[in-house]
Amino acid sequence: MNTVELIRKKRNKENLSKEEILFLINNYTKNKIPDYQFSAFLMTVYFNGMSKEETASLTEAMLYSGKVLNLNSIPGIKIDKHSTGGVGDKTSLIIAPIVSATGVKVPMISGRGLGHSGGTLDKLEAIPGFRTNLTLSEYKNVLKKVGAVLIGQTKEIAPADKLIYALRDVTATVESIPLITGSIMSKKLAEGIDGLVLDVKTGNGAFMQKTEDAIALADSLIQTAKAFDKKVIGFVTDMNQPLGNYIGNWLEVYESIQVLRDGKKNDLTELSLILAGAMIYLGKKSKSLDEGIEEAIRILKSGKAFDKFVEIVKAQNGKTDFILHPEKYPKSKFKEVIKSTSAGYLSEVNTYELGMAAIDLGAGRKTKDDKIDPKAGVIFNYKVGDTISKGVVLAELFSDSKSGIDNAKKRIANSIKISRSKPQKLKLIKTIIN
Ligand code: URA
Repeated sequence: MNTVELIRKKRNKENLSKEEILFLINNYTKNKIPDYQFSAFLMTVYFNGMSKEETASLTEAMLYSGKVLNLNSIPGIKIDKHSTGGVGDKTSLIIAPIVSATGVKVPMISGRGLGHSGGTLDKLEAIPGFRTNLTLSEYKNVLKKVGAVLIGQTKEIAPADKLIYALRDVTATVESIPLITGSIMSKKLAEGIDGLVLDVKTGNGAFMQKTEDAIALADSLIQTAKAFDKKVIGFVTDMNQPLGNYIGNWLEVYESIQVLRDGKKNDLTELSLILAGAMIYLGKKSKSLDEGIEEAIRILKSGKAFDKFVEIVKAQNGKTDFILHPEKYPKSKFKEVIKSTSAGYLSEVNTYELGMAAIDLGAGRKTKDDKIDPKAGVIFNYKVGDTISKGVVLAELFSDSKSGIDNAKKRIANSIKISRSKPQKLKLIKTIIN
């Protein structure tokens, strides 16, 4: 096979065979196709897309570029959840303990912050001592003993994705449905799961801003999961405002504690319970999605989910003292508040800008090698549709950097709209696909 001919074929909108896709992925992973040719191939896929069959072949080639875990020796159905990313999305921290407390096994391989969006690994690492870099045998042991485990992508899991993702990041080819599908599904299928719940975000803080694009991505992910005989339910959910009120790594762990231990109720709690309910249903611990959600509510109220969270943190070497006494966590050097200068209703939030403000404060990376400040972030006190009085505190900002606070303050002040007329509340679940 000839790489140039394959690029030309895709450029001319012809479909590639399974063997041709395998040739491209294998040879790129083995460093036998140079970056400039693979970049050209990625761009043809970006512009011309891929058929359902091509996307499945791409996923398969990326999946078998590394190890596919076999978790058959661990009893129980294994179900994971994947979110396409957003601002304040900490549902994994709440869902993993709820679902594993029902007996469904939850093996999670998560990512770091990407662009303006946060990542589960960075949040977990805000807990002193928490190890996200377990070996695959430690991963299996924790899953067996505790029922849930949360780690990062290892070098054995889908190495093709690691290489291709880095190239996509610098060739403007991230936002492609088949490439996103191959990237996400190759990692998820390698985990050894039986089923997957997908949370595809849409809105001004999501990678897929338009609902129709989010639905198309959800469809592609679902078709691919089904091609590999996995049980799957997909949700398209709103990201036109942060999920919950806390943005930033330790702040998000803290809000998860408020939900798990203190019964805090907001959109974060609602979405976590729905996604957990879907996982409980796929894990056959309930007869329907609704019963799954009821079970999730019961487990949360009973305190078992909080106990399980503490157990997970302990099993992965995290200091549980900070989970049991979050008030002991170190504080940022600087704190600022943003007050409302008018009265009315919160009508719009630029969620992307809020995510970028959190990065200004130190909660994310501006370059690959930046170190994250786990204490940094924003508490955003209101939801779209809420009544706002003049002078109330809209947001609280935390950082060790004074210039970070100044930049973030400007960004946030410019990303909030207060109107005189009452806007509609945002619908959290746009659609459910299975
Ligand atoms: N997350 C991934 O893992 N891959 C993508 O391509 C996009 C989001």
